Amino acid sequence: MHSVNTQIAFKVVIFAFVYAWYGFRFEGISLHEMQINLEIYKMAATSAATFSAGSTVAFGTQVTQFPQSKPSAVRLNSQKSLATFSGLKAATFVKCESESSFLGKESSAALRGSVAPQAQKSNQKSQYHVNPQASYKVAILGAAGGIGQPLALLVKMSPLVSALHLYDIGNVKGVAADISHCNTPAQVLDFTGASELPNSLKGVDVVVIPAGVPRKPGMTRDDLFNINANIVKTLVEAVADNCPDAFIHIISNPVNSTVPIAAEVLKKKGVYDPKKLFGVTTLDVVRANTFVALKKNLKLIDVDVPVVGGHAGITILPLLSKTKPSVSFTDEEVQELTVRIQNAGTEVVEAKAGAGSATLSMAYAAARFVESSLRALDGDADVYECSFVQSDLTGLPFFASKVKLGRKGVEALISSDLQGLTTYEQEALETLKPELKASIEKGIAFAQKQTVSA
Ligand SMILES: NC(=O)c1ccc[n+]([C@@H]2O[C@H](COP(=O)([O-])OP(=O)(O)OC[C@H]3O[C@@H](n4cnc5c(N)ncnc54)[C@H](O)[C@@H]3O)[C@@H](O)[C@H]2O)c1
Repeated sequence: MHSVNTQIAFKVVIFAFVYAWYGFRFEGISLHEMQINLEIYKMAATSAATFSAGSTVAFGTQVTQFPQSKPSAVRLNSQKSLATFSGLKAATFVKCESESSFLGKESSAALRGSVAPQAQKSNQKSQYHVNPQASYKVAILGAAGGIGQPLALLVKMSPLVSALHLYDIGNVKGVAADISHCNTPAQVLDFTGASELPNSLKGVDVVVIPAGVPRKPGMTRDDLFNINANIVKTLVEAVADNCPDAFIHIISNPVNSTVPIAAEVLKKKGVYDPKKLFGVTTLDVVRANTFVALKKNLKLIDVDVPVVGGHAGITILPLLSKTKPSVSFTDEEVQELTVRIQNAGTEVVEAKAGAGSATLSMAYAAARFVESSLRALDGDADVYECSFVQSDLTGLPFFASKVKLGRKGVEALISSDLQGLTTYEQEALETLKPELKASIEKGIAFAQKQTVSA
């Protein structure tokens, strides 16, 4: 676990450095003097798998083969002028490599694109405040929280983001002021309290909702229901009124209920698009990949485990038999890994002993999902993530599975992961259905009882 955390921290530092470096141009450093060789390969952390999808259902798209995502590497050679940089400690020669990040192909291309024009325009500072490829607006609702703050920082690092709107009921000004000093393209704006909520959403492409209360030891995600249900309802109403076309990423727990609540609110507002409403389950995939890589001594970047079902306890079902690269597990390993992945949130809640739930790994996972969404919006045809979405794969109205993301949201649900399951997985799938169904129905019943603001 320690080495994994170290790797993640190392990657964050590397990317902070890359961005700090490419922000130098804003300060007028002569890039004519710099010899830059920036090679960025496609990041594999998103959907690092080659697998066949026999058929897909809903939204009409057929998917047959997903290409292997390649390990990424960032190599940056700057031989001279970095010495003039007064921010991060600069070396005259920098070589950094990162094999994994939530950044994807399009983001990498944006980084490349941002490098090329600089050499000709090194003295025209003002032209560089907005990267022409950084064109998406992201809003985070609950941005001052344990997840919101690191998530805001990670999203600020994305070269695809032109504006980052940070909303909370309090304490968000300081967070925005702090993050706004990072010399990356996204403009950071803060919004405090209900009166500023509408403006925080105007023109936004992706809305991420981590607002709400986290679990304390002894609580289940369902215990959060009463508080978070109301928060999600109120925030989604505002989304419906101000940016009905945005992708909506729901992080607030219990996701198994808050996503159906959001769907009902959007329906009542007449703007529900099932392709654009997502329950963020990326952390389950991130954890599954990490735990499997550790257990099997695999390179982290290579591992991709689809996680289906829902996002609470036994509704979280890692499909270990579908792990890429193909790897075999003993029955004991399957049992141990499945239970660990299902209880990983509780592992963190207990370790934090009353100080909250997973925030840093959640922010990492949410940032990856944001980046995947932005790449899809940007036209990348190769974006796959697991997410809890409206679904007809199992007979339940919502179900987490791998989905193909496109400009209009979910382009296809990937059904192939659910074919050829092991007996263990098939039984676990049947066992989770009643619990997941009950959570979905609880959310729908809550929302249907509410009056929706005009
Ligand atoms: N989906 C997942 O995988 C996952 C993982 C971990 C945590 N979570 C959930 O994410 C949520 C947030 O967790 P956290 O640790 O960041 O909690 P936190 O208490 O640290 O932060 C929550 C933030 O939400 C804000 N907030 C509360 N009501 C609000 C409202 N009406 N509008 C806007 N902001 C509001 C608070 O002011 C606070 O800043 C919890 O529900 C938690 O269970 C989900």
